[in-house]
Amino acid sequence: MSNSTSDNTNTFLSDTVRYAVHGNVAVITLDNPPVNGLGDTVRAGIYAGIERAGDDARINAVVLIGAGKGFSGGADIRQFNTPAANAQPTLRAVIARIEASGKPVIAAIHGFALGGGLELALGCHYRIAQSATRLGLPEVSLGLIPGGGGTQRLPRLVGAATALSMIQGGKPVDAQAAQAIGLVDALAQGDLLDEALTFARSCAAKATHPVIGRRSVDAKGLDFNGARTHIRAKARNALAQGVAIDCVEAATRLPFEAGLDEERRQFDALVDGDVSKSLRHLFFAEKEAPRIAGAHRGKQAGIDIQRIGILGAGTMGGGIAMACANAGFPVVLCEREQAALDRGLARMRKNYEITAAKGKLSQDDIEQRLGLITPSLDLNDFADMDLVIEAVFEDIAVKKDVFRQLDAVCKWDAILATNTSRLNIDEIAASIGRPESVIGLHFFSPANVMKLLEVVRGAKTRPDVIAASMDIAQRIGKIPVLVGVCEGFVGNRMLTGYWREAGFLLEEGASPQQVDGALTRFGMAMGPLAMADLAGMDINWATRKRLAPTRPAHLRYSKVADRICERGRFGQKTGAGYYRYEAGSRTPLPDPIVDEIIQACAREAGIARREITDEEIVERCMLALVNEGAQIIDEGIVQRASDIDVIYVNGYGFPATRGGPMFYAQTLGLETTLKKISDLRSKHDEHWKPAPLLERLVAKGAKTF
Ligand code: COA
Repeated sequence: MSNSTSDNTNTFLSDTVRYAVHGNVAVITLDNPPVNGLGDTVRAGIYAGIERAGDDARINAVVLIGAGKGFSGGADIRQFNTPAANAQPTLRAVIARIEASGKPVIAAIHGFALGGGLELALGCHYRIAQSATRLGLPEVSLGLIPGGGGTQRLPRLVGAATALSMIQGGKPVDAQAAQAIGLVDALAQGDLLDEALTFARSCAAKATHPVIGRRSVDAKGLDFNGARTHIRAKARNALAQGVAIDCVEAATRLPFEAGLDEERRQFDALVDGDVSKSLRHLFFAEKEAPRIAGAHRGKQAGIDIQRIGILGAGTMGGGIAMACANAGFPVVLCEREQAALDRGLARMRKNYEITAAKGKLSQDDIEQRLGLITPSLDLNDFADMDLVIEAVFEDIAVKKDVFRQLDAVCKWDAILATNTSRLNIDEIAASIGRPESVIGLHFFSPANVMKLLEVVRGAKTRPDVIAASMDIAQRIGKIPVLVGVCEGFVGNRMLTGYWREAGFLLEEGASPQQVDGALTRFGMAMGPLAMADLAGMDINWATRKRLAPTRPAHLRYSKVADRICERGRFGQKTGAGYYRYEAGSRTPLPDPIVDEIIQACAREAGIARREITDEEIVERCMLALVNEGAQIIDEGIVQRASDIDVIYVNGYGFPATRGGPMFYAQTLGLETTLKKISDLRSKHDEHWKPAPLLERLVAKGAKTF
């Protein structure tokens, strides 16, 4: 990083912190890859470095700098809830030691100073940053608040109003903005260490140095209650936002040390709570999901996708085209007829206009994105595409036919992808001469918005086709999860049991509103029945009819959904399903006809309806997801349990604050989960046969999947 001459070689203060002397300035370097997380050895090293610099009469200033790609990504998240997190010296003690240093300490910041990383810098007397640096306190996104004094020092440095918006919002600022609000004292244009050393020498000459902990807070223009009313109750970080506001408010009324104590108390409560544990689980799960087990990390040479063809300009094809164009990829969008193409393009334009009306896109952006989409009526235009995604009608014969045509026109090394949500990819692949090039890319609707992408590997799909698909998914802003072929893949397969229990609960005495209400109160974005209405009940009806011959006759089967469909009620698109909808409205309204259908089904099945509690609804629907999820893991359909959580949170409205169904089961405890499932089996029937994986894990005392 520097070409400065050093009169002392680096020595190690701890495993992760180095010390060197440059003339009269000591340089303490954090070297804890990948992000200089402030784990126990880093904290101990910094503390020792400040002590050493203090004891050395030659030294009159200290520079604190990070090795690698950034200053510090904050507390080591993996150490939370372990003894190492609270090992001495704590971050608070390290920062107090820096503030007490008579010799000025200068934070030299590049890349990022986030969370505890910024709190550490706030403890320093001065901050100098490279221009492409992000500085912020993003803890709320992990369900936390800054726990190293950030809620007390930032308001003292930049004013409580600016601090509140940074802490509550969690969004980092760049170095220029940081300088404008007084968060950094200087910008480094050239070599950071060289400039920091020069800056440090100029500071050393001053008689006194600013210590944020000694300042008072400027609380001008603050309306804490107003800030509280802006919290969206359903936001995953709602709890942490509220606590962040309380802590900044505390900074305006409590003495500094008391404010730090209050912050710590609040932080400890959050870090021990299930919400933050769930959000931290997802933070790592989403980073892990795109990785292919056994493959080398980092960019691999392989198929480089540049040109993308999309077949079908319906809602799905259009959404996929928009997702690709949004990421700057040229797309050829092919349809059979001009009218369908025109409709598709008009829908895309309308969707972009809606985004523009919200101020999120300019007219130029719209034209530029639509300009990347080339309409076509000729499949031969796919001849030199690197990837073709078909999004035609969901019917195996239609899909096979399309693949035969693609096989004939596409170049030999093109990836041929199907957007099917249920059909057997191996069967589609087997119908052409190059099954190894076939893969499933199961987008979720609306495809330009939803982050989740199930990447479905066929039995014969080549590894480089899988790797390129996972890569392109990320380049178009998706979170890809690799799954295997089975009925419904992962997300939809798990819905089968979830919907089954919802249907049984209706017959046993619950109303659609009660089922959906219990689950939305649990945190689901939508209840299962309103979701069925949104998705279109005809699709599942068709699947049920297709699978009817293989359904075990002795198992209970609810006819409620079939009866509703038999009346032509397919959900929102027909104005009625489990609920009724007034023209132009998406609000589900209770419908006495549905109550009659439910009661008739219960009578026919000989079920005496009873009072059903919300707890029972949540338990049965959730455990149905968990049990099927465990089976899916056992079959190797996913690479890891956390992939299921990523799928459910990003594609099915599962509350992030509960971490996903598999993490939720771990929160309940696997043993408790198994016991509840076994109890359900004894009360209900074989639908509740516990997944063998769950039994094996409990038998060996495992706590996680
Ligand atoms: N503690 C522990 N591990 C961390 C971490 C932290 N604070 N921040 C990042 N990591 C890990 C990531 O999990 C990843 O590990 P992996 O390679 O084993 O999956 C690795 O560091 C690199 O992170 P990544 O996000 O891929 O790198 P990046 O360069 O894209 O981004 C950051 C770096 C620091 C900007 C980003 O990781 C980030 O935002 N981290 C969280 C910061 C935060 O919220 N701090 C407050 C903690 S309370």
